[in-house]
Amino acid sequence: MSDHLTIVDHPLVQHKLTLMRERDTSTAVFRQLLREISHLLAYEVTRDLPMTTKQIETPLVEMEAPTLKGKKLALVSILRAGNGLLDGVLELIPSARVGFVGLYRDEATLQPVQYYFKVPAEMQNRVVIAVDPMLATGNSSAAAVSLLKESGATDIRFLCLLAAPEGVARMKEAHPDVRIVTAALDERLNEKGYILPGLGDAGDRMFGTK
Ligand code: URA
Repeated sequence: MSDHLTIVDHPLVQHKLTLMRERDTSTAVFRQLLREISHLLAYEVTRDLPMTTKQIETPLVEMEAPTLKGKKLALVSILRAGNGLLDGVLELIPSARVGFVGLYRDEATLQPVQYYFKVPAEMQNRVVIAVDPMLATGNSSAAAVSLLKESGATDIRFLCLLAAPEGVARMKEAHPDVRIVTAALDERLNEKGYILPGLGDAGDRMFGTK
C-alpha cells in the first residue's frame, strides 16, 4: 500500500465484498451490500478531512467543539455504476453537493468521450470525491478526473469498490495527486477489460440489467 492507494481491509468490508462477488447473489442483496460497504468506504476516504472548531453550548457548559471546515464536499458519480456507490456515501455525508460525469468509449479510437458533465459551483474550494465501483483499465476514470480538474477541483479522491493493477497504474501515471480508496486490489484484467476475479459488470448487477 502507498499514499496513492488505500485498501480498506476491515473485516466487515471484506466479508460484504465476498458476498457481492458471488455469482448467485441477487440484485436486491447486491444493492443492499453496496449501500452498506459504501458507508465503510466513505468513512475511510473522509478520514483526513480538514477540521476546525466552533463555540457551542451543551446543556451543561460552553465548549469549543470540532466541526468540518470549509465548503460542502462534492461527490461526483461516474455514470452509470457510480450511482450505486453514491447513494450510500450520501447517507453518510447528506449535505454533500453532487455532480455527474458521463463518458462512453468510442469503439474506433477506444478513447473515452464525454456525453454529460454537471458539477457543483466552486469546485476549487471543495474536497471532491469521485465514485465509480470498478477501476478497470483506468482510462475513463483518468478522463473523468481530468474533467474535474478542468472544472477547478484540486483536492480529488477516487473511491471504488474494486481496482485492477492496470487501473491503479494508469491513474498513478495520469493523476499521482489523487488518492484511490478501494475495498480490494484484484489480480488483473481479462481480454475484455473485466476485473479478475472481480464481480462481473457492476452496473448490471446493481441495476439488474442482465
Ligand atoms: N466494469 C465492470 O462493471 N466490471 C469490471 O470487471 C470492469 C469494469
